[in-house]
Amino acid sequence: MPAVVVVGMQWGDEGKGKVIDFLAEGAAWTVRFQGGANAGHTIHFGGARFALHLLPSGAVRAGVRCGLGWGMVIDPGRLLEEIEALEARGISVRDRILVSGRATLLLPHHAARDRAEEAARTGTPIGTTGRGIGPAYESRAARAALLLADLAEPDGEEKLRIVHESTNERLSASGAEPIAWEPLLASWRRWRAEIVPLLGDLSGAIEVALARGERVLFEGAQGTHLDLYAGTYPFVTSSSTLAAGACAGCGIGPTRIERVIGVAKAYATRVGAGPFPTEATAEEGARLRERGSERGTTTGRPRRCGWLDIPMLRAAVRWNGISGIALTKADVLSGRKTVPVAVAYDLDGERIAHPPLSPSALARVRPVFEEWPGWETIPPNASRVEDLPPNLVRYAERIASSVGAPIVLLSTGPAREQTVACTIGTSAD
Ligand code: GDP
Ligand code: IMO
Ligand code: MG
Repeated sequence: MPAVVVVGMQWGDEGKGKVIDFLAEGAAWTVRFQGGANAGHTIHFGGARFALHLLPSGAVRAGVRCGLGWGMVIDPGRLLEEIEALEARGISVRDRILVSGRATLLLPHHAARDRAEEAARTGTPIGTTGRGIGPAYESRAARAALLLADLAEPDGEEKLRIVHESTNERLSASGAEPIAWEPLLASWRRWRAEIVPLLGDLSGAIEVALARGERVLFEGAQGTHLDLYAGTYPFVTSSSTLAAGACAGCGIGPTRIERVIGVAKAYATRVGAGPFPTEATAEEGARLRERGSERGTTTGRPRRCGWLDIPMLRAAVRWNGISGIALTKADVLSGRKTVPVAVAYDLDGERIAHPPLSPSALARVRPVFEEWPGWETIPPNASRVEDLPPNLVRYAERIASSVGAPIVLLSTGPAREQTVACTIGTSAD
């Protein structure tokens, strides 16, 4: 399976980092294709924990090359910090990174505007990560952004000055302090020295790898229901988080993709505002948050917690063309007699199996819950399906048959080895 896309099926934080790290053994490349440092992907192995925001999760594995595609919005200062943090832990990564010069350059102005606009939002703020994602994509769509390739252009500093002045005007209009020119220029020169050597033709490099039969993993950030178009708009991120975004965000054609793996938690979480039909009561939510350590990897915010939502997963299977599901965090639910699962919604007196057409109507749906049998503690060294509690296997089977895709990985803990490769349920391939 040379080209595999991995995406989140819920609202992010499904465990994509853990799954990519597991699949990255023997892979030639892991590649991010959208988003920026709003992502927080956690990897545990050998007793150590890593949280990555811009680099793909293959960064922690020696020999795996790391691509950052043109669909991303990249803050070069943060990218350098992340590289240095890995170097400080003995992982050398600079010689394995390739960044598309067509990626959007995220400036300090974008992050400042993100925070100022969020504070000024009347009604319900979106609850953004404050990393400048929306304003950076907005400037790209307005054709007013700088690209990473501009760092290498002879007139790059002149372009920076023009963008600096106009974005400072926008910033002042949103009530925030303007960004000072001199420190920005100093940063630009450092970025030029350190980032330009990382730029190159990512699309071409991927094409070569695929032609050699090497494995390339495309790592989605956020999740299906945070997609700018498919998600719970306007409570979404500003990029295309669906599997098709891997093609648009890296310069590879859809005919190259062999498999799409969707990552889903055995329950559901959401950070930030927006409809969440299966959100648990305060008490149940607090228990899930505690047991699942549900705090944001990027912002440290407590995650809202709730139950598995089959209609949302069905939509994710269709919108991404998911061929297999990686089910994570089943261990967090162990010990329960039963587990509530929403199998449909009631909307204005009608029963529906998929999310409603209008994202706003999602706030009005009433989930139809079933209680599925719970399971006991998962043996710590479980490595095969036969080692898993039978009711957990049944839970996985019922998910697979309800959403139309088999479970191909079952994660039973945060560590790399706490992963069971399997085929549970009908194969959609
Ligand atoms: P991502 O953004 O999708 O990569 O997910 P995050 O890293 O933000 O959040 C997932 C959290 O769950 C991280 O702390 C992981 O270490 C942890 N995790 C992943 N898989 C499992 C699992 O199967 N069981 C448990 N208990 N934790 C897991
Ligand atoms: P990973 O890759 C969970 C959420 C924010 C907010 C909305 C918009 O770790 O799964 P943004 O800063 O993108 O403009 O915020 O999207 N959000 C995430 N939630 N996991 C993420 O990434 C997220 N990235 C953004 O909380 O509701
Ligand atoms: Mg995360």
